Amino acid sequence: MVKTHKLLAMILVLIIAVTSVSFAAPNEKAAAALDKKVLTKLNSERAMEHIVYLSEVIGPRVAGTAEEREAAEYIKKVFEEYGYNPVIQEFSYNDSESSLFVKEDEITAYGAYGQYFTGYSEVTGNLVDCNLGLLTSEFPDEVRGNIALIKRGSAYGITGYFSLKAKMAQDAGAAAVIIYSTDNSPFGPTMQTEHINIPVVMISKNDGEALLAQVKAAASEGESVQATVNVELLDVYSQNVIAVKEPTNKKKSGIVYVTAHYDSVPGAPGANDNASGTAMMLEYARILKSLPTDKEVRFIACGAEEVGLEGSFYYVENLSQEEIERSIANFNMDMIATSYEDCTVLEVSTVDGEPNYVSELAVAAGARLGNLTKIEAEYGISSDHRYFGYIGIPHGGFIWRSEDGRLEPWYHQPQDTIKQNISLERFTKAGEIIGTALYEALRKPTPSLKKSAVRKINNIFDAGAVK
Ligand code: BES
Ligand code: ZN
Repeated sequence: MVKTHKLLAMILVLIIAVTSVSFAAPNEKAAAALDKKVLTKLNSERAMEHIVYLSEVIGPRVAGTAEEREAAEYIKKVFEEYGYNPVIQEFSYNDSESSLFVKEDEITAYGAYGQYFTGYSEVTGNLVDCNLGLLTSEFPDEVRGNIALIKRGSAYGITGYFSLKAKMAQDAGAAAVIIYSTDNSPFGPTMQTEHINIPVVMISKNDGEALLAQVKAAASEGESVQATVNVELLDVYSQNVIAVKEPTNKKKSGIVYVTAHYDSVPGAPGANDNASGTAMMLEYARILKSLPTDKEVRFIACGAEEVGLEGSFYYVENLSQEEIERSIANFNMDMIATSYEDCTVLEVSTVDGEPNYVSELAVAAGARLGNLTKIEAEYGISSDHRYFGYIGIPHGGFIWRSEDGRLEPWYHQPQDTIKQNISLERFTKAGEIIGTALYEALRKPTPSLKKSAVRKINNIFDAGAVK
């Protein structure tokens, strides 16, 4: 009897000892074990080959061009080599070609764009000075059926969103809008807060002031200046490349999205922006193929990001309610390998600047691997995590930046090349931090997530993210 008691007591002591040891630092230990699986497999030198192919063999990959398509085919081929069945998801978006004629003279004009802009038509009418176009009282009666000439900028405590000005003009009965800039680098004004169905263009400050002078001179003679504004719709075709890894145990699970855009701006080889993020996404696809994962992983190479996040917008817009409800995380990589010496902080941006499941996993992984990873909101909406965030999915956009938030000076420049702008060390570090955070999301039980209202995207400024 005594002996049994003694044995039982010993077993009990042993159990307590063992459990208390394993409870000493359970999170760190479990995390370290998962980290190891990723870190031993991750090969950033190998991933660098994708940056070489995308930025040097193909070069600039502008949305809607043959080069962007070629990059998509390359990504598809790599997914296939890694054992996936990728699909190319095609989509089209609206672009425009614009012109402005005043008498015989053509003035350089940039047409409006945006998901809420449908003002594709040609309008001839008289130019009417509407000052800043922010108050009803700034629109004279003559603007009805004519062309509102509006100055760019804010006043009276009202933020001068281009679409607000266009809406005011539209409501006043204007048939078209010309906004003249405060500098001589006009661009296509975005229409993202209001539905606008009349043509809207932007012109330079010099051209705008010259027009205004003509209008005033004519008015003093009791005359007016006639102009023709044309904004023509062009359909542009682009594509996302998608590969899916089902959970190892085949049960319905949460969905984790790994995203990166592969297009670039005109003239830029886009080695860092964003062959870097695309390459690391492909490397994650490679290593996760041979690792157990408890969640569904969707790798999405997004097209047409640089023209307004078109690929990710299309993707998120087409998720079903069932898919949205299963979605637990979006890891978006955009500019993760710059060699610019000041960019020492791996930032994880969220659309509301608030921490979430993804940012917290990333900050913890950064701390484990010895790197400063911080949450930042300011540019949270400048890349493909935006719409995942807007529909309530925990998300993070990863980017290297300086302590005070600067990017490399070669951002969107022809110097965004491997030679000038890529650091294997930063690429590796980012790959390790994001990769280990990602693997935690794929292995650990998902905590109950505080999701914001899950809804379809309707008006992005309405989604609670931009104030
Ligand atoms: N890689 C950039 C995102 C970025 C830009 C992050 C600036 C941090 C600072 C991205 O490709 C880009 O240029 N995005 C566009 C936004 C988009 C809505 C056209 C941008 O910021 O101009
Ligand atoms: Zn980018």
